[in-house]
Amino acid sequence: MGQIVGMSACAHGGIYSVDHNLVELDFSSSVNPLGTPPRALREIARRAKELSPRYPDPECIELKKSLGEYLKVDPSWLVVGNGAIEIIYWFAQAFARNQAVVPSPTFCEYELASKRAGSSVSFVPSRQFVFDPDAIIKQARGADALYLCNPNNPTGLLATAEIEKVLENSDRHTMVLLDECFIELVDDSAKNSFIERIGEFGNLVILRSLTKSFGLAGLRVGYACCNPSVAEKLKKYRIPWNVNGLAQAAGIAALSDSTHLKRARAIISRERRFLHEKLLRLAPIVPLNSDVNFFMLNLGARDSTEFRDTLLEKTGVLVRDCSTFAGMDSHHARIAVRTRKENLRLLRALEVVADG
Ligand SMILES: Cc1ncc(COP(=O)(O)O)c(C=O)c1O
Repeated sequence: MGQIVGMSACAHGGIYSVDHNLVELDFSSSVNPLGTPPRALREIARRAKELSPRYPDPECIELKKSLGEYLKVDPSWLVVGNGAIEIIYWFAQAFARNQAVVPSPTFCEYELASKRAGSSVSFVPSRQFVFDPDAIIKQARGADALYLCNPNNPTGLLATAEIEKVLENSDRHTMVLLDECFIELVDDSAKNSFIERIGEFGNLVILRSLTKSFGLAGLRVGYACCNPSVAEKLKKYRIPWNVNGLAQAAGIAALSDSTHLKRARAIISRERRFLHEKLLRLAPIVPLNSDVNFFMLNLGARDSTEFRDTLLEKTGVLVRDCSTFAGMDSHHARIAVRTRKENLRLLRALEVVADG
């Protein structure tokens, strides 16, 4: 049974989650291991002088056109935010009025945004980190908002079949935010995304982002795909000029470079297996399975906050302490999958602290 709980501590990873001067290598945030596409970097440099003093297009028309081509949807089905995070807050304000349902563990901002919008939140615990579709369907009956994340953060696991079951059996009065911010970094993203089926579900908002897949976390570009009438409801909460001009230009350039994402996906697939295999030899630390560019480590008896801090102080490597995710214990850390050179450095760092 889910329950209504008080506000949990919603913390994030990233170098500013700790004393950033100590961080030499950040494995706590999970962005494309190749970083920003060179084409986008060149566009930022080329257009900085022109775009910096000018107000940006408040409607992001050119960017929406590029996104529409990328996703094969009409731009009227898109809204663009200052990162996906902004759209989570629009969604909550627009739809989470009384009761929001959140499987746990997952990204903490769904809870925070819903509570800020005045809604109560109930959690549906996962079973061994796998979503329980029947429990979600039951709990979401009568709720006005439901949040799903595929692949899920912090587990890194896809739950496409479970999500399909939830979508097909949920009350159409319940608005569903399906967070696919990491989907482009799984091996077979097209097969696991619901973008192609968006027309079937009038209550569905699919959330995406360029921050992770195209390495634009610092510039902030997120978007959502939904029925145009739902898009209009979301846009009521938008502030003018919410996406800056350089971010729009960089987004368009990034989307035009499909090889960058393909290369990143191949690296992630190979390096995830490499890291996993090596980490299996690092008892008592145990790596958990994942489908994407991050995965969790079970630290055994070790406290995850103490583990993160010791690792950082001794080696300069930052991992994500998972204890701040609602529904998680204090014995898991999350690591990103990066390039071979960086992953070798992570392995050396973990060896230093593995025995406690
Ligand atoms: C699952 C998930 N959704 C959305 C976001 C926010 O993405 P953005 O950087 O586009 O605001 C994050 C950030 O960590 C996330 O983990």
